[in-house]
Amino acid sequence: MKKIFFHTCEDMHEVKSDSARLAFASPPYTNNRDGKTLDKQDYLSFIMKTYSEIFRTLTPGGVLVSLNTDLRDHASYNKGETKYEGTVWHKHHSIREVCDGIGYKCFDHKIWVKSFEQNLYRYNFSHIMLYSKPGGKILRPHSPKHADGFGTDVWHLQDSMMRKDSKGFLFRDAIHPEILRRCIDEFTKEGDLVVSPFAGSGTVLAVAEEMGRDWAGYEVNKKLETLIKESIYGPKPKIYSEKK
Ligand SMILES: C[S@@+](CC[C@H](N)C(=O)[O-])C[C@H]1O[C@@H](n2cnc3c(N)ncnc32)[C@H](O)[C@@H]1O
Repeated sequence: MKKIFFHTCEDMHEVKSDSARLAFASPPYTNNRDGKTLDKQDYLSFIMKTYSEIFRTLTPGGVLVSLNTDLRDHASYNKGETKYEGTVWHKHHSIREVCDGIGYKCFDHKIWVKSFEQNLYRYNFSHIMLYSKPGGKILRPHSPKHADGFGTDVWHLQDSMMRKDSKGFLFRDAIHPEILRRCIDEFTKEGDLVVSPFAGSGTVLAVAEEMGRDWAGYEVNKKLETLIKESIYGPKPKIYSEKK
């Protein structure tokens, strides 16, 4: 396949049912594109739609890796000075309940620590939630020995989150490629299909390509087209650390 589609992953009809071994979902932080307001119900109904569609594409025994960052539920939590207002919303757990309702089986959970420094508006760690579609075997459900680093529960992988394309467009929310290497190695074989429903800067697709997997990506923001293509085919985007 090896295609990127610039439309919502609520409808991924280009990917056949029961065909993907792995989907890697890092959905937007909140329901609102400006990232400054939050409507939990709206957010969870978006998750319900998109994760149901992902479920359809997965082969039985296929794995959904869901990367979710918790947040405070203050209406304007994202404005720096309101950091300590609001209560903590364990978003990853609400998403887990949505996943249970869809029929996924949560079989493991890792923590990605991005930095030990304080961040102005969000937590510096994310939850890597591992779900399977019942009805088939997961390639390697528990295999600390198989993939380097996979067996530990806390993954401290710093930096690497900001990427710039050759035209100067900066994306701040990329995944650390090592997370993808571990998951792709653990749950897929060469030639298997990897789906990236929220492609962002294209990290999932780039690592899938690098590891000889087939892939399909979805992204609603057309401005990311150059960055996604450069992530996959080069010239490789410049990587910046949060501190710069
Ligand atoms: C957290 S970022 C993903 C980062 C990505 N994993 C990476 O490493 O670069 C979420 C992305 O999902 C995209 N997005 C939001 N809603 C979407 C939808 N309905 N369908 C597809 N992509 C969507 C956003 O434009 C954003 O680029």
